[in-house]
Amino acid sequence: MGLSSLAARSGARLALTLLAAGAPLLLACSEQDAKPRSRLGPLDDPWDHGVRLPEAPQLEGDEVAGRDTLLHGNYMSCGIPWRLWTDPNLGSTFQAALGSSREPLAGRTGNNADLPYNLTAFTAADGTEVVNANCLTCHASKFDGELILGLGDPTVDFTGGLGGGPAVSAALLDLLGLNDSEREHMEKVLRIANIIGPETVMRTVGNNPAEALAIVLSLHHDRDTLAWSDERLMELIVRDEHGQPIADPKLTSDPPPWWRSGKKNALFYNGMARGDHRGTMAYATSICVDDVAEAKRVDGLFVDIQAFLRSLEAPKYPRGIDADLADTGRQLFRRDCAGCHGKYGADGGEDAYPNLLFPLDVIGTDPVVANGGVIHAPELVDWYNDSFYGTITPMVPNDPFPGYVAPPLDGVWATAPFLHNGSVPTIELVLDSTARPKYWKRVDYDSSNFDEDALGWPWLGVPYGQADAPEAERKFIYDTTQWSQSNAGHTFGDHLSFDERRAVIEYLKTL
Ligand code: HEC
Ligand code: HEC
Repeated sequence: MGLSSLAARSGARLALTLLAAGAPLLLACSEQDAKPRSRLGPLDDPWDHGVRLPEAPQLEGDEVAGRDTLLHGNYMSCGIPWRLWTDPNLGSTFQAALGSSREPLAGRTGNNADLPYNLTAFTAADGTEVVNANCLTCHASKFDGELILGLGDPTVDFTGGLGGGPAVSAALLDLLGLNDSEREHMEKVLRIANIIGPETVMRTVGNNPAEALAIVLSLHHDRDTLAWSDERLMELIVRDEHGQPIADPKLTSDPPPWWRSGKKNALFYNGMARGDHRGTMAYATSICVDDVAEAKRVDGLFVDIQAFLRSLEAPKYPRGIDADLADTGRQLFRRDCAGCHGKYGADGGEDAYPNLLFPLDVIGTDPVVANGGVIHAPELVDWYNDSFYGTITPMVPNDPFPGYVAPPLDGVWATAPFLHNGSVPTIELVLDSTARPKYWKRVDYDSSNFDEDALGWPWLGVPYGQADAPEAERKFIYDTTQWSQSNAGHTFGDHLSFDERRAVIEYLKTL
């Protein structure tokens, strides 16, 4: 770490003290009319503590081909043989195991025309026809009943783990009449699913196990050859900041919308994915990868897929907007938010997104994701960077400090729940840290039941955490006292009055 960033860090700490001291002042004046933040002096603007993450060159890809590869391509390497999937007697067992309740996606062709949108039928590198889950398992979701490609899905139930394999005994496998390569695929899927399943059990419906999955992938792949091993190849003890093992180190994350990726110089909430971004995507699909040659083949597919992701634009708010209120909100946003989150073309002009990373003491949200590769399990970052994937996209979680990127807010109205861990159900609460519920659950999972005023999913507070909840209710409760699930921080809207907050919310609908 260079001297200048050390200076920036101590500056940030100083600013926090000042902000804390200034908070009652700001609250006190929020009852009156004008109370520009500049009262505290220009050096205390919180965006002065952000560090711009540099742009990295990306390989040019073909976005049209990328969409096609995303929806039909063989980036998952292995799967359940198509023949079993379509078997008149056993097919339904396999379909149920992959979670095939979702509807087909218009425009898909061949065997994929009728498959649920989150599954892909493809020809593996060895010529076998197979089916497996695809990226849309986590990265497509509905609003008002309309499927939006790239919108993170906050409704999937991973409380039983990811991709539990079908219960198929060896004896049954013998009876299925599979050829050698089909049998190899089937056995591999079963073996891997048995290992991944228990490691990716989440606490709450909607909590996403992507980080847990990434951990399994490094523990069971040889770093140099990428050969899969059913046994762990590395010991991992997740530790707290004092070096003590953490009892239940489940890391909660909320899949971000893909349309941000075109603006972001570094991917992931903590901005740790630097360089060309396709390496981490190839890594996310490395479940069945067994050697570097296959990793390279798959990586090649992501040149175009990435171009497609970068071309995606946020959906337009499908309901009404009060233009006058939004205009008031725009001015408040310019004053209090744009320094971190950028300016938007809707204001008349070009988008200008600053790509700023903020240290934890300025942003104040749950530190676990930012510190994951720095304090809790640095060996995983070392593994990744020394593997094939690290040569494409290095992971750098502490340059110049661990923290969070202020994301572009295009289409943010669609992306509830909020903050990187999905701990806050509405934007109104993102803008008022004092009103956030400690324990809450969604009222339902109906994509048309949306709270237009608070901008988010309707929720109910509950008087108990998960430990004390009735069994039937437990998995629906978001418990902010659990590790990685704090809802603290981002106090930058706390000083706004109720009306000002509503105006900012109205403006966010226009982005
Ligand atoms: C199991 C769920 C899951 C699957 C499957 C999945 N992702 Fe993700 N993805 C996530 C989560 C959660 C994050 C946020 C991780 C973080 O930033 O810490 C994420 C982050 C990303 C990002 C970074 C976005 C940003 O704004 O920084 C991209 C790009 C991405 N995923 C692409 C893909 C692609 C392409 C695939 C398929 C090859 C895929 N993902 C499969 C859950 C998933
Ligand atoms: C000091 C910089 C800074 C300021 C000022 C700031 N934000 Fe943020 N904002 C962030 C960061 C960093 C995050 C991500 C935090 C996290 O996920 O842990 C964030 C997250 C958000 C999110 C949640 C995004 C999501 O999808 O989860 C919203 C909404 C938001 N900010 C709106 C605003 C508004 C409106 C204002 C002005 C009142 C504002 N922010 C002021 C830095 C800032």
